[in-house]
Amino acid sequence: MTIITVIGAGNVGATAVQRLAELELGDIVMTDVVEGLPQGKALDLMQAAPVMGYDTNIVGTTDYADIAGSEIVVITAGIARKPGMSRDDLLVINGKITKEVCENIAEYAPKAVVITVTNPLDIMTYVALKASGFESNRVFGMSGVLDSSRFATFISMELGCSIRDVDAMVLGGHGDSMVPLPQYTTVSGVPISELMPQEKILQLVQRTINGGAEIVEYLKTGSAFYAPSASVTKMVEAVVRDSKRILPVAAYLQGEYNENGIYLGVPAKLGKKGVEEIIELKLSESQYQALAKSATSVREGIAKLNL
Ligand code: APR
Repeated sequence: MTIITVIGAGNVGATAVQRLAELELGDIVMTDVVEGLPQGKALDLMQAAPVMGYDTNIVGTTDYADIAGSEIVVITAGIARKPGMSRDDLLVINGKITKEVCENIAEYAPKAVVITVTNPLDIMTYVALKASGFESNRVFGMSGVLDSSRFATFISMELGCSIRDVDAMVLGGHGDSMVPLPQYTTVSGVPISELMPQEKILQLVQRTINGGAEIVEYLKTGSAFYAPSASVTKMVEAVVRDSKRILPVAAYLQGEYNENGIYLGVPAKLGKKGVEEIIELKLSESQYQALAKSATSVREGIAKLNL
């Protein structure tokens, strides 16, 4: 049986565990630093199993020894945004947490594929790579699935069409410099440029870029978790089922898209080995520039951490 670990039993972590359990993708270990929190939520989720009919074992623990044998580890540990905070405001504290978490993963689950969710995402994924010492195909981040899902939601709301028919693509950093790609965004194969005016597309692009902050403004005490947990679940599923799905992933670039040695959101093939291939799309000149701007802000963040 595959063992999936989720580190951080907060909003994103616990909701991801619920989704993973309901899909019966493997047995689950949920950890946190707060004693009792992962144990209590795991027991609650186990007691939902007879009602929902999932046959998944869920263990809550604060002891890293219990993650031994995990094939996949999802990192959601850290602090979340409050109103007025950008993802970058989380940098130093979440950087320390991610480093400590990844040193433990390297010790107790040295063969695992690691998916980061903690923000600022692209920088935390770099911290995870360095602190774990794992090969870069085994360390990647969840950003583009969420950003693309937000873009798709706004498109379906605008057109009044089923979300099932919308295929959206957002690349770049998971922040203000993300790069939605309208030319690769379609409704039943039809480019959105044929379905709505350019001005409307730009409005939806802007709402997508602001998508996380819009929710933080409503919630006030935390940030989004239903869509983030759904997005990481989709990525875990692609790895567990070795399904070779092509999804936008914060992947380690080594020359692709003219970038080297950093993480940015790009389309990638996901399977058992993690990122099995990075797909290079042709972008417009302004999109290449936007991606380069994303890369600059990721580099600036990494520099602030003094790794
Ligand atoms: N090890 C394990 N867990 C930790 C650690 C640590 N060193 N430090 C903090 N945590 C736990 C907290 O105790 C808390 O339960 O991480 C959990 C985070 O949960 P929430 O505060 O509910 O935050 P959440 O909304 O889940 O977001 C987590 O994901 O989407 C990103 O920006 C978001 O960085 C944030 C992360």
